[in-house]
Amino acid sequence: MLSPQCAAPSSVLLANTSVLSGRRSSLFARQSSGRARSMPTKRESNRYTTSSQSFELGSLLSALDNSFILPVAEEASAPAPRAIDRTSEQHPPQSFASFRFPPDHHHIHHRSTLASQTHSNMPSSKPRILIPGGAGYIGSHVALVTLLTRKYRVTVLDNYHNAFPAACKRLEQIAIDELPAGASQQDKDDCKVDVFKGDLRSKDDIRKVFDAYKGDDKIWGVILCAALKAVGESSEIPIDYYDVNVGGLVNLLKVMHDNGCNRLVYSSSATVYGTPPKVPIPESTRLAPESVYGRTKWMSEIIIRDVCDAYPEFRAIGLRYFNPAGAHKSGKIGEDPRGKPGNLLPLLAQMAVGKYREGGLKVFGNDYPTPDGTCVRDYIHIEDLAGGHVNAVEALERDDIFAADKTETHGKYRAFNLGKGVGMSVLNMVDAMRKVSGYEFPHTIVDRRTGDVPDLTADPSLAEKELGFKATRSLDDMAQDLWRWQSNNPQGYGEQ
Ligand SMILES: NC(=O)c1ccc[n+]([C@@H]2O[C@H](COP(=O)([O-])OP(=O)(O)OC[C@H]3O[C@@H](n4cnc5c(N)ncnc54)[C@H](O)[C@@H]3O)[C@@H](O)[C@H]2O)c1
Repeated sequence: MLSPQCAAPSSVLLANTSVLSGRRSSLFARQSSGRARSMPTKRESNRYTTSSQSFELGSLLSALDNSFILPVAEEASAPAPRAIDRTSEQHPPQSFASFRFPPDHHHIHHRSTLASQTHSNMPSSKPRILIPGGAGYIGSHVALVTLLTRKYRVTVLDNYHNAFPAACKRLEQIAIDELPAGASQQDKDDCKVDVFKGDLRSKDDIRKVFDAYKGDDKIWGVILCAALKAVGESSEIPIDYYDVNVGGLVNLLKVMHDNGCNRLVYSSSATVYGTPPKVPIPESTRLAPESVYGRTKWMSEIIIRDVCDAYPEFRAIGLRYFNPAGAHKSGKIGEDPRGKPGNLLPLLAQMAVGKYREGGLKVFGNDYPTPDGTCVRDYIHIEDLAGGHVNAVEALERDDIFAADKTETHGKYRAFNLGKGVGMSVLNMVDAMRKVSGYEFPHTIVDRRTGDVPDLTADPSLAEKELGFKATRSLDDMAQDLWRWQSNNPQGYGEQ
């Protein structure tokens, strides 16, 4: 039985995914006309609210340019110039006051009710991992891979700013389906994902998640995947980026500390390197991010390192992702951003199913010093990337990982690249998606975009050596799995 203090609060909504699925918040209903992916009006996109306050950020947003230009590189690239950047429309600053009960909230079961429905009487001894952002693209795959180890239980905290409830329901089902024949009821129960709808910017929301678990079921560790992530948008609405990415992290660290939770795996990014002096890029490269987004990741790493220095019991690993791509091989979960995709691969996938074709694809520059002249990035299959989080969670328990740190700091913090170590050009990716989808992707070459660097390829050898991480899936795997997801789900999760 669960303790009474997890009574559903007014600001945080907790539901077992099987109950929550298919719902959408009243906020999104208000914001959208038709599907939520339709662009907000200028007025809507300028309104930024929290549970306790609401204010206009109109002065922070520049006029939106309606001519679409394809971002050449994924999120890891340097920022686009404001004049041609559309990412502010792709990820509008939706209101975050979305965690009130929708009008029909009585359909959403309280966890204590769910517990009696879905949990066996025997308590599980598996450590519980909280994944803020676990409904998003990377977080949902991390949650799935974590469950598939059958060593951990998973709780998700997400405000659905850029995600849909169905992701957690589907990943839970995949985990159950992949159990071996004869799996026990306990095994099935342990695949259930507890989902809290709440916001990292609210310490109360985070506290309510921690308060919901007691004794052996206390939250054991955190894999932080929640963030705002569009490089271009970050220079348009920097306050929001610092608020969510840095403020949200500090809130989380405070609540973790208050609850004696001392294990963190953090989603960092190759953007912390800026324009690297050397490629492939080792972790020892100086950090020189060139965008607001990149600086939020860099500052977050510094903050986590300081916390590790101050509290010897605190252990953390930062994972610097290169360019995650593809989808789980089941084709049941994948990337479904709200609005037009800001990254190359989801955009290609959506073009292939008939969306965003107008004007074709624009490629920024074909005169870079790369094999075909277009920018090169290190694409890594999302399942490989997700697997790296399990490596990292396990490494948190190993003293040798932290003892091996040769930097001047003394705390237990390490950062590792998660990449494949193989560079692929924009045209390589277009070709791979053409082969799997049959769509020709008519494209034009336009001028280079300010800030794009020719090559961002990881040196993944440190993560391989120390974490036992290895990205084995190929470019064809990424393209096939992405296409399976997109063609099976042309409307994504089909939710608003
Ligand atoms: N996708 C990439 O190319 C890439 C590369 C490097 C690093 N990263 C980092 O990986 C992490 C996950 O990225 P992703 O691609 O899955 O993005 P995503 O947008 O799909 O996932 C982020 C999740 O966080 C949630 N979220 C956002 N703000 C929140 C808040 N205030 N409170 C609670 N939940 C909130 C969103 O709803 C979403 O589910 C991010 O930290 C991102 O910066 C991504």
